[in-house]
Amino acid sequence: MKEIDREKLPHHIAIIMDGNGRWAKKKNLSRISGHIKGVDAVREVVTACRELGIKVLTLYAFSVENWRRPKEEVTALMALLKEYLVKETEEMIRNNIRLSAIGRLEDLPLDVQNTLRETMKKTGHCDGMILNLALSYGGRSEILHAVQEILSDYQNGRVRPEEINVQRFSQYLWTHGIPDPDLLIRTSGEFRISNFLLWQIAYTELYVTETHWPDFDRKELLKAIADYQSRERRFGLTSEQLNGREE
Ligand code: FPP
Repeated sequence: MKEIDREKLPHHIAIIMDGNGRWAKKKNLSRISGHIKGVDAVREVVTACRELGIKVLTLYAFSVENWRRPKEEVTALMALLKEYLVKETEEMIRNNIRLSAIGRLEDLPLDVQNTLRETMKKTGHCDGMILNLALSYGGRSEILHAVQEILSDYQNGRVRPEEINVQRFSQYLWTHGIPDPDLLIRTSGEFRISNFLLWQIAYTELYVTETHWPDFDRKELLKAIADYQSRERRFGLTSEQLNGREE
């Protein structure tokens, strides 16, 4: 496998963890078994990112649309999330990982909200890496929420229309304070964004792998990073401008 360049790591990696259901189906297991195996993959990828020195890892764990899944599956996902938080808090503190969350967190069951709040509080001082969980998250909801907040600030005289630019708008998003992702990974082969970080991925490099999420491991992560490092990020400029050859 191609070596990765430790000096050119993506600062922020975002992942659409897809394919738990397909992984389970292939093995004649229940969808929930797929999610259980998915949590093991979460553990491995969080550890690998921390060891590599990635500064932000955002995981799409539950979308606003996912509430429409069968009740038993939603209940199981919420239970897995809570169990993960309870079990991993100490490990996060040991590894200097701060937990953060984006999404309509008020939609989550109260016990999950409380556990989430507790883990965020306990890891609040950690500054080695941010593990950012997208929960009851939707990119359109996030943008609408930002617009509502801006309108309310406008009504209260806290913001003027001419002050709203890209930077100011970003401060109203749930991701405020977190730089945009450099690399977005989607597992399980679909070429879709699925309402994830719509505003933030304007210049993000996309990487899609056929591997289902439960099979995504450290090796797969390194492959994605190596692919990212082979790209030239131009942010709308020409190659010549980027390489300082433009007069
Ligand atoms: C997509 O697979 C996965 C999800 C909707 C949930 C992701 C959740 C986890 C990995 C576990 C809990 C998360 C944490 C952070 C502890 P799918 O069910 O859509 O798969 P399919 O498209 O093959 O059916």
